[in-house]
Amino acid sequence: LRDREPIVAIDGPAGAGKSTVTRLVAEALGFLYLDTGAMYRAIAWLVLEKKIALDDEPAIAECLESTTLTLRRTNSTPPLQVSIDNTDVTQAIRTPQVTANVSAVAKLSAVRQVLLKQQQQWGEKGGIVAEGRDIGTHVFPNAELKIFLTASAQERARRRLQDLAHQGETQIDLEQMEKEIQHRDYIDSTRKIAPLCKAPDAIELVTDGLSIEEVTQAILKLYARHCTTF
Ligand code: DC
Repeated sequence: LRDREPIVAIDGPAGAGKSTVTRLVAEALGFLYLDTGAMYRAIAWLVLEKKIALDDEPAIAECLESTTLTLRRTNSTPPLQVSIDNTDVTQAIRTPQVTANVSAVAKLSAVRQVLLKQQQQWGEKGGIVAEGRDIGTHVFPNAELKIFLTASAQERARRRLQDLAHQGETQIDLEQMEKEIQHRDYIDSTRKIAPLCKAPDAIELVTDGLSIEEVTQAILKLYARHCTTF
């Protein structure tokens, strides 16, 4: 007998389509949606806002002690509102400046410790689909279903550019975006603490050429096979 609802962990590199797919899977299952990247982005936003050096771990740790990061469910897109103290940063954490600096902040142990605790509290009762880089390996190692979503760097760069174009950002070209993505992958997968990697028991889905709908359906099928008892 389970003492909590199932947990679905979705990990993978930047631009693999995690956010949208995670949101749709959570919606279909009626589960909570947790975007852990948004939490790291919120801390990066704060560090930039306070003009603290990205590698000044003691100063960042001290700043976090007096900061409250709040996640609130909404009925719109994105379904998660992120606030730092009383400032809504849901939009502000999506700027290219935050994106370019988030990996440097996310590799700090002081930052990961605080966020890990908060993420595990969100998932305490299960009934959650969480996305990130270390969900299946560190945050919820007992998740019933673990998915590792990937796609080629070129495909991921193309998708990110499309997203940015929707937000009115058209300054970045494909090659530059591909380089940025590869740079972020490199930092995320080579850091000491909880690096981006596929959990041994995760199922890898390569999403090149697949639509969001196809990926979502594939995960829901795996969920039905792994997480429902007959
Ligand atoms: O998924 P995203 O692009 O919003 O994530 C932003 C950054 O946050 C990513 O480059 C690495 C970091 N991150 C992390 O280290 N661990 C997670 N579980 C989620 C994100």
